[in-house]
Order: sequence, then C-alpha cells, then structure tokens
Amino acid sequence: MKAAVHTRYGPPEVVRIVDVPMPAVGERDLLVKVQVTTVNRTDCGFRAAHPFFIRVFTGLLRPRRTILGTEFAGTVEAVGGRVTSFAVGDRVFGFHEWRFGAHAEYLSIAEEGPVAPMPANLTDEEAAPSTEGAHYALSNIRKAGIHGGQAALVYGATGAIGSAAVQLLKALGASVTAVCDTSNVDLVLGLGADRVVDYTNEDFMADEQRYDLVLDAVGKSSFGRCKRLLKPRGTYISSDLGPLSQNPILGLVTPLFGGRSVKMPIPPRVGQEELRYLRGLMESGAFKPVIDRRYPLDEIVDAYRYVETGRKIGNVLIMVAGSASHRERR
Ligand SMILES: NC(=O)c1ccc[n+]([C@@H]2O[C@H](COP(=O)([O-])OP(=O)(O)OC[C@H]3O[C@@H](n4cnc5c(N)ncnc54)[C@H](OP(=O)(O)O)[C@@H]3O)[C@@H](O)[C@H]2O)c1
Repeated sequence: MKAAVHTRYGPPEVVRIVDVPMPAVGERDLLVKVQVTTVNRTDCGFRAAHPFFIRVFTGLLRPRRTILGTEFAGTVEAVGGRVTSFAVGDRVFGFHEWRFGAHAEYLSIAEEGPVAPMPANLTDEEAAPSTEGAHYALSNIRKAGIHGGQAALVYGATGAIGSAAVQLLKALGASVTAVCDTSNVDLVLGLGADRVVDYTNEDFMADEQRYDLVLDAVGKSSFGRCKRLLKPRGTYISSDLGPLSQNPILGLVTPLFGGRSVKMPIPPRVGQEELRYLRGLMESGAFKPVIDRRYPLDEIVDAYRYVETGRKIGNVLIMVAGSASHRERR
C-alpha cells in the first residue's frame, strides 16, 4: 500500500510517499481503508521531534512510528476473527493518537480503540478532522469545569483547537468571546461566538469583560498578561508551554492559592465515549469541523509546510482514496 513515511526527524521534506507492507490485523483489530486523514500540529510535532523531549516517547535517535496521521475517516475493509462490534463495509472515523498510521491507504486499529461509527449525516471529509482539535479543546474545557451560563474567551479561535473550542463551549451553554483576525470574523460568528474581538484592531487583553475561562488556543499569551481578564476564581489554560515554558509550573503552583489559576491539562486518552460525544454533536449540527485546504496524499509535504505556517484556518485534509488531483482552497 501507499504511505507517507519518515525514517528520521526533520522538516516536511523528510516525508516520502513509498510502498509499504499492509498493516498486520490482529484477532481484535479492524483494517480500515482510509479515505480522508489530516495533517495536524500533533503530526508536525512528532515528525520534527518538537519539543525535543518527546523523543523519550517517540524514539531517541529515530522515530519508532514511521507513518504519522492520527485522524481518519474511512471504511472497514476486514475484521479480525474476534471482532464483534464492527463489520466489513462499516463507515468509521477515529483518532489514532500516539499510534498514528493514518497517512496511508490502510490503517489497523483495535476494535476497542478510538474508532467509532461515522455520524449518519456526515461525509468522510467532515468527519476526519473532527477529533484532534476537538480532543484538546474538550480536555481543556473539562479541566476548567465550564458549564452553562459561564463566560469564556478563546484566543486563536480560528485554529483547529480554537474553532472546536468555540463550538464545544457553545454546546455547553457558555457565552463565548472569540479572538481572531479581520478576515475570519464572519467565520467565527458562524461558529456561534457571541462576541468577536478582532486582534488586528483591538487588544483583547484590554477587554472590560471578565471570564471564567481564558483559553489560549495558539499559545501566544501568558497567564501574567491575561490574569486581569479572569474572574476571581477564573482559569487560564494555554495549548502550549508558555514563552518561558512556565505553564506547567504555574499549573502546579497557582491552584494552591485558591484564586485565579493556571491549569495544565494532561489530555486523557481518547476513548469511544469521547468519539460518541463528538458524533452526537456533529449529528445535531452543534459541531462542524472547520476545513481549510485539501491535498492529495502525494502532496503531503506541501500540506505539512502549510500547517507549519501557523496560519491554517481549522483543519487541513489529506485525500487518500479517490484523491483530489489538485489542492483546493476552502
Ligand atoms: N502535539 C503537539 O505538540 C500539539 C498538538 C496540538 C496542538 N498543539 C499546539 O496547540 C496550538 C494550536 O494548535 P492548532 O492546530 O489549533 O493551531 P493552528 O490551527 O495551527 O492555529 C493557527 C490559527 O491561529 C491563528 N493565529 C495565529 N496567530 C494568532 C494570534 N497572534 N492571535 C490570534 N490568532 C492567531 C491563525 O489565524 P490568523 O493568523 O489568520 O489570525 C490560525 O487560524 C499550537 O500552538 C500548537 O503548538 C501542539
């Protein structure tokens, strides 16, 4: 089968399209024919071994997992002898976090793993990008304990995490102020944001409103600068470590004082409960992943380059099967 393979860490160009053996399918595994996958920031981090310490998990000198790709949507092509809950021909989607393998024509995944039946009313393109950004958004929202009636500010509301966070917060009944640039104000209002701050015209840190949660979904702020936006027991969460890698320490220290605090969620493993939750939101129309560009698998290096500009809007798709012969802009 065809796959995007990297055998050393480095820039997008370390990835090559090559023929590799089909993945092994165990007694309790599904073989999924991948229709659509994504290139996301997790793939970028693991391909480049950035931050450096992730080599402890991914292989010190060379990557242990040579085929990346976490998110997928496709069709069950074969099942192991002891699989009971999926059948050949089922349409499925999922998030093969840590194990990867979706940047290929076929993926093997455990029946009990992070895979679920496709939302009834969704296409592969719509379902494939529904898990990575939403997973991080959801773990942040759950860590902050946000519920209906509370107020949240999402900085970086046009990223994969940010655009999912706006919708997931609205689904919980929170009021949402979203920060984005001028060209995406309408997009973000369309995601359900109650208010938008255009960061090219206004400094969101000068906002007069106070929030239960400030979620920095692009990792470009700091607790020190955002503190004044928080209610007395409000929570600051960032998708990144912070300019001085201070967020993990602040996450340990600030909750001890009982006031405004930093939380540093360690996202739990994605399970089928989470996929079912997201599927329900997608089926009801409450969550629709934002799609930016589409690339055929053969052009995955270009997809990586684009994702690493830090300017993608939502998600970048890789069309594996019946792939689009040219890249398309949203
Ligand atoms: N495993 C990992 O290492 C990992 C995994 C997932 C995420 N993350 C981290 O999580 C963060 C978000 O990931 P993501 O995939 O959601 O990001 P993303 O989709 O790449 O986010 C890019 C978006 O952020 C917006 N943006 C850029 N600079 C901004 C600024 N100064 N103010 C407001 N918006 C800005 C961009 O829009 P405009 O520039 O057009 O405004 C673009 O829409 C990243 O910082 C990433 O490092 C890390």
